[in-house]
Amino acid sequence: MLEKNRLRIALQKSGRLSSESYNLLIKCGIKINFQHNQLIAFAENMPIDILCVRDDDIPGLIVDKVVDLGIVGENVLEEKLFIKDNVKKKKFYNLLIRLDFGICRLSLAIPKNSAYYGLDSLKNKRIASSYPNLVTQFFYKKSIPFKLCILNGSVEVAPRAGLADVICDLVSTGTTLEANDLKEVQTVFNSQACVICRLGHIENSKQIIINKLMNRINGVIKARE
Ligand code: PRP
Ligand code: ZN
Ligand code: MG
Repeated sequence: MLEKNRLRIALQKSGRLSSESYNLLIKCGIKINFQHNQLIAFAENMPIDILCVRDDDIPGLIVDKVVDLGIVGENVLEEKLFIKDNVKKKKFYNLLIRLDFGICRLSLAIPKNSAYYGLDSLKNKRIASSYPNLVTQFFYKKSIPFKLCILNGSVEVAPRAGLADVICDLVSTGTTLEANDLKEVQTVFNSQACVICRLGHIENSKQIIINKLMNRINGVIKARE
């Protein structure tokens, strides 16, 4: 059972941020017992519960105040909490710290043998992506029309499958692009993992734990600089 007075932290269940997020908490001195259930873990030495969920669900859990903290990539945050009118950008969370992992970029890539002479060569092309909001915003700002093909995974096979001409996906080492004969032509968004905190009143006892945790995270990051 989750108790209300324990700090709840959402982590990515499996994916690029999972092990580093988990290791960071361990380095901060949190003893986590994962034996009850893989999805919820209870810290043994601090009033902290860990929820292991899909990264895409973390922004929503923070907005709905289901969890107090979340470790998530800025790419997912921006995509999920996207609002069209950036001028009136509503605040959905507090960013507590950017972490030293999960560094990647959302980039446009095209088949290696395709000609590229700047963004205009992508005009009216079919672009496959799991990041419809970020892609749309990028092309809207450049006034370049395009066709969107939303895929939740395996975006890199879209050109070969004849689904799209261009992909917009995360690039970290570049191995995936290379393996699929694609070349990166333009960065759309730079991203890294960060710790976010929900808005609204936070009890003093929880705030003390958050502060303690942030101090320790800072220390861990400083130590590996
Ligand atoms: C991302 C992206 C590529 C890969 C790129 O996937 O979709 O597949 O990483 O990394 P590389 O440049 O080091 O090869 P991710 O692991 O985030 O999983 P997902 O596709 O399921 O979101
Ligand atoms: Zn995801
Ligand atoms: Mg992938």
